Amino acid sequence: MKLEIVRLADDPALWETWDELDDLWPPFMWQDPTGSFYYRYLREHFPEHCLLAVDRSTGRAVAKANSVPLAHDFSPSEELPEGGWDWAIRQSVHDRLSGSVPTICSALEIMIRPTARGTGLSSVMLGAMRDNVTRLGFRDLIAPVRPIGRTGPVREYAFRVRPDGLPVDPWLRVHVRAGGRIVNVAHSSMVMTGRLAQWRTWTGLPFDADGQVEVPEALAPVQVSLADDVAVYVEPNIWVHHRL
Ligand SMILES: CC(C)(COP(=O)(O)OP(=O)(O)OC[C@H]1O[C@@H](n2cnc3c(N)ncnc32)[C@H](O)[C@@H]1OP(=O)(O)O)[C@@H](O)C(=O)NCCC(=O)NCCS
Repeated sequence: MKLEIVRLADDPALWETWDELDDLWPPFMWQDPTGSFYYRYLREHFPEHCLLAVDRSTGRAVAKANSVPLAHDFSPSEELPEGGWDWAIRQSVHDRLSGSVPTICSALEIMIRPTARGTGLSSVMLGAMRDNVTRLGFRDLIAPVRPIGRTGPVREYAFRVRPDGLPVDPWLRVHVRAGGRIVNVAHSSMVMTGRLAQWRTWTGLPFDADGQVEVPEALAPVQVSLADDVAVYVEPNIWVHHRL
C-alpha cells in the first residue's frame, strides 16, 4: 500500500474517492438529524478540515478524518457539553452563520476501511488531524470519542484503566497515547429517533417488544415504546481534550 494523506481543500477532485467510505456506518447511524447540517455542507464549508488517506497504488480510499472549527470559551478545568457530537456540529454551523470567529476545533469522525483496521492506522489519522488543526492555527482539539469497547455504566467505563495506566477502551487509548486527556462523558452525544417500521428497515430487527433492544454497533440499547410507535437511541461519547 502506498498511503498518502490529502486535505480535500488541496485536491477537490478526491471528493469522489471520499464517498467510497460513506456506506461503512450502519444505516441507523445516519439518522441523527443534526448530522445532516454537517454532511450536506462539508464540501462547501469545511474542506480544509477533511483529510483522506488514499492508497496511491490502487487509487482507493483507505481512511478519513474530519473536524469542525467552533467558538467555545474552553477552560481545561471545566466539563465539555453533554450534547457532544451534536453540540459540536450545531455550534460550528451557528458560528458559520453568525460570523463568529472559531477558537477551537472538534473532531467529528475517523473512519478506517474495515480491511485496513487493526494495523495502527487510527493513530496515524488522529496524528494527521492534530497536525492539520495546528496548521490551521488552533491550539485545542476536542473529540467526542465513541467508547467502542464499552461495558457497564459509561461514567465508570470512561475512566477505567489497565495496569499500565492507559484506558481499557481501545479507541480512548489511541487518543490518550496521542496526548489527549479524558474530560467527561457527553451522555447524549448523538440522538436517533424513528417509528418502529423505520427501525426495522435500518436494523433488520423485529422491534416487536417494549423496552431495550441491543442493536449491533450501537453503544447503548435502543429504547422502544410499542404504544407510542417510537424507538430512540441516545449514544454516549467521551470528551477528550488535546492541547496542541
Ligand atoms: C475505531 C477505529 C477508528 C479504530 O481504528 P483501527 O485501525 O481499527 O485501530 P488500530 O489498529 O489503530 O488499533 C487501535 C487500538 O485498538 C485495538 N483494536 C483494534 N481492533 C480491535 C478490535 N477488533 N477489538 C479490540 N481492540 C481492537 C488495537 O489493539 C489498538 O490498541 P492497542 O493500544 O492495545 O494497540 C476503527 O475501528 C473504525 O474505523 N471504526 C468504525 C468507525 C468508528 O467507530 N470510528 C470512531 C469514532 S468516529
